[in-house]
Amino acid sequence: MVILSIETSCDETAVAIVEFKNKSAKVLANIVSSQVKMHSKFGGVVPSLASRMHLKNIIPILERSLCKAKISKKKIDFVAVTNGPGLIPALMVGVGAAKALAYGLGKPLIGIHHIEGHIYANWLKKYDAKKNKLWEAEFPIICLTVSGGHTQIILMKKDLNYQILGETLDDAVGEAFDKVAKLLDLGYPGGPIIEKMAQKGDEEKIKFPRPMASSGDYNFSFSGLKTAVLYEVRTQQEINKQYKCDVVASFQKAAFDVLVSKTIKAAQEYKVKNIVLGGGVSANKKLQKLLAGAIEANLPTCGCSFPLAKLTSDNALMIALAAYRHIENSKGMKDWKSVPADANLKLK
Ligand code: KG4
Ligand code: ZN
Repeated sequence: MVILSIETSCDETAVAIVEFKNKSAKVLANIVSSQVKMHSKFGGVVPSLASRMHLKNIIPILERSLCKAKISKKKIDFVAVTNGPGLIPALMVGVGAAKALAYGLGKPLIGIHHIEGHIYANWLKKYDAKKNKLWEAEFPIICLTVSGGHTQIILMKKDLNYQILGETLDDAVGEAFDKVAKLLDLGYPGGPIIEKMAQKGDEEKIKFPRPMASSGDYNFSFSGLKTAVLYEVRTQQEINKQYKCDVVASFQKAAFDVLVSKTIKAAQEYKVKNIVLGGGVSANKKLQKLLAGAIEANLPTCGCSFPLAKLTSDNALMIALAAYRHIENSKGMKDWKSVPADANLKLK
């Protein structure tokens, strides 16, 4: 079974072609064209520009993917696409292209929730052009999904079953990283820059709050933490490089402490077999280390999964991996007429 998948929910135009057979996946193509350079001039993603770039790139990237996969369009069995949530002008390009392709080929179209993609990125444990056995995860699972638009703790009692236990009430954690980087004039996107600078900083230097750490629920709030960074920076007459490293290290630790402690609490309450990390912020090695350490200390029998480095940020391969679960479970198989682009799509 060959799935061609498309992802254009934000600032990456991505296409993947994956062959699935007996719970194994062979990645035939996985192309991501990032617009980050263009948006970084504006300090964040400009939706109308993102949409124009997707429109310019989508067909060439589709063609490059088919060429890389060395297959003709006729060999595609299913088309999958991220149909939300995300920036609507960006989503519409990918969904439009996917619909046209599915219609033209007479194949089913599967709409995938972006966060579902980030979660199922974990099902591919090895990335190469060979056949790789997919993860046979034991449920229940707690997912910590951390990206530029989302911060959620999700309980999965079984495959494709999601219960959002808690989420951010304001900024997503990735968004807080981007905003802190902006106020310190570090560049965009903030996450990777902050991670690198934090390695040279003292995370104990500045005592930032751990927002909602004892709220008794699984919700988060990061906008106050970002404001605490702003107030801290304003107290300084002179801001040197070392000070910036200390600020971002202390900020990062404060944000991750809350993420990790609430994830562990949820995993204990629901007696889960695995904890899964997903989304752009999951690339952060410090977060991975803190989470793995906390699992070892508190839940030694619980498994822990991080996506492969290549699959932490937005890509279409994760969309194909999620689509395969839908096909296997005969869930969500639609024709091109019934897959809307929905900026606020809910995870069901
Ligand atoms: O999942 P993603 O690529 O796009 C969205 O779905 O939003 O996530 C992007 C977010 C950005 O906010 C970016 O700053 C953050 O992920 N990010 C990181 C790291 N790499 C990307 N945050 C912390 N540490 C990183 N290494
Ligand atoms: Zn994402």
